[in-house]
Amino acid sequence: MVAFPTETVYGLGANAWDASAVEDIFRAKGRPANDPLIVHVAEFDQLTTVACDVPELAWDLGRRFWPGALTLVLKKSARIPANVTSGLETVAVRVPDHPIATALLEAAAVPIAAPSANRFSAPSPTRAQHVLDDLGDAVDIVLDAGETAIGVESTILSLVDGMPRLLRPGGVPLEDLLELIPGLGYSPHFLGEEDVAPAPGALLKHYSPRARLLLIRGDDAAVRAAIGAEIARHPNSGALVFDADAAALSHLDLKIERLGNDNRQAARRLFAAMRALDAKGVDLIIARAPRRRGLGLALWDRLLRAAEGAVIDV
Ligand code: TXA
Ligand code: MG
Repeated sequence: MVAFPTETVYGLGANAWDASAVEDIFRAKGRPANDPLIVHVAEFDQLTTVACDVPELAWDLGRRFWPGALTLVLKKSARIPANVTSGLETVAVRVPDHPIATALLEAAAVPIAAPSANRFSAPSPTRAQHVLDDLGDAVDIVLDAGETAIGVESTILSLVDGMPRLLRPGGVPLEDLLELIPGLGYSPHFLGEEDVAPAPGALLKHYSPRARLLLIRGDDAAVRAAIGAEIARHPNSGALVFDADAAALSHLDLKIERLGNDNRQAARRLFAAMRALDAKGVDLIIARAPRRRGLGLALWDRLLRAAEGAVIDV
């Protein structure tokens, strides 16, 4: 088992051909066996070693987005052990865009099955220290390459049941996928917006800090006023805010973690900021709901799951 950096988050990897090595990953993370892993390969032409009946669209997507933060769900090859895919006939695969991940894959010369290297349901690790904090001695080796560049996990796209389906928004924005897949949308089942089957493992409670999280949605002035009001009602609370909000809230005595000026910076900082507020011992985290454009859709998804759906409209 090796924890290694990717451009999205740190992964906890093992030889994808070796069922017992893969078993160790589930044990180390405390991950339920029904939550399948992503298989990482060094180059996109290795797709056919882990998947079969690869549709033309997968090759087009691979040429456009790999190496990168896009995971494709395809029909699995018989050689992939059942525990990698939680018994499904499909496999999730991606080519990570990080020199250390590529070097590891090339040195290992096998595909690497790797979930995010956090304790199950905790925020994903964007620094080697997060891996050590969560998994400690359970992991043999951590390759430390500093902070990850994107900070949220890959976008997961299923190509197995006729219509392409976006299962998880992530580092590749939906808008970029629309260039190749017109009409692709995202309807997380837990929003009740549409009755679609969830991705396996896409439990509502996910990416969560220890503290409860509350999302506030509305225009700037109303959101700032509501954050101020909620903070006043909950003495042991903290806030995840964009820089512009932080300036407007500076008169309050807040435990604040800043997410930066835009969605790109916010994605990079989100999980570390959740962990930092936990370390400060707050029992409630208040956050602005980001607009669902670009990386904002992935931010919204992670925050909403961390909040277990708790959103206040103002
Ligand atoms: O950016 C990422 O994707 C990171 C880095 C390490 O690559 N990995 C990651 O893995 O986020 P993980 O295990 O935390 O999330 C993988 C998710 C699963 O929870 C599941 O929802 C989905 O991928 N998945 C895996 N195999 C699948 C399959 N065959 N069908 C549908 N969804 C699948
Ligand atoms: Mg994960």
